[in-house]
Amino acid sequence: MNRIACAGLAALALSTLPALGAEEKSTVSREQVERVVAAAWSKLPPELQARVEQDQTMRDCSQYHNDPPKPVADAILVREKATIVYPPDNQFMGDWKKGEKSALSGYGGRMGDDPQRGNGGNCYACHQLTTSEISFGTLGPSLLGYGRAKDFSPAAQKELYERIYNPQSALACSNMPRFGHNKFLTVDQIKDLVALLMDPNSPVNK
Ligand code: HEC
Repeated sequence: MNRIACAGLAALALSTLPALGAEEKSTVSREQVERVVAAAWSKLPPELQARVEQDQTMRDCSQYHNDPPKPVADAILVREKATIVYPPDNQFMGDWKKGEKSALSGYGGRMGDDPQRGNGGNCYACHQLTTSEISFGTLGPSLLGYGRAKDFSPAAQKELYERIYNPQSALACSNMPRFGHNKFLTVDQIKDLVALLMDPNSPVNK
């Protein structure tokens, strides 16, 4: 495994590291684990280094096992919402055909992936979106008919953009990746995914 793949695993490990209760005694402290991880990935490019270190929201979610008390959850929502970068023209609908390609693609962030090629949204890994694609994950709810269920409203387009850009702005300690916040997807790619879910002509709404 190369350093980049390892960094991904390390980030995952840190974000899911349980805060041990009194009854779950460990001989290794959280600080020791963090020291070992930091030492093992000390020569990463800065953008990956940032992913190995937990931000405040990840620390809060680890500490409370993804079930933070209301004041902490409210603070997460406010903090994460403030990170959202909106399309300059406030238009949230891109091209659903590009969105569908992106939703099907798990390209990006893996060993050997070319950062110039652009990453995929990989939405099908966790969601059903269309009836034509029968291979999908079920960690997230089915998004079949999403736009229709929202009456194709402009307000729902904006909410969906925010949800994809940074799910923690809608649900504290969400299990969905922060695609825009982590610069994994671009503003235009997120607009294409909004169109996939919200365009009446998209297979999601047929
Ligand atoms: C790693 C799994 C995972 C991936 C990948 C993922 N999601 Fe999610 N998503 C979830 C989960 C889990 C939820 C349920 C609420 C939560 O935890 O945020 C969710 C919730 C949602 C919701 C809200 C649904 C509702 O009932 O209101 C939307 C919309 C959504 N995801 C869109 C997307 C899109 C678009 C993509 C691709 C860019 C995507 N998701 C990728 C896991 C994922």
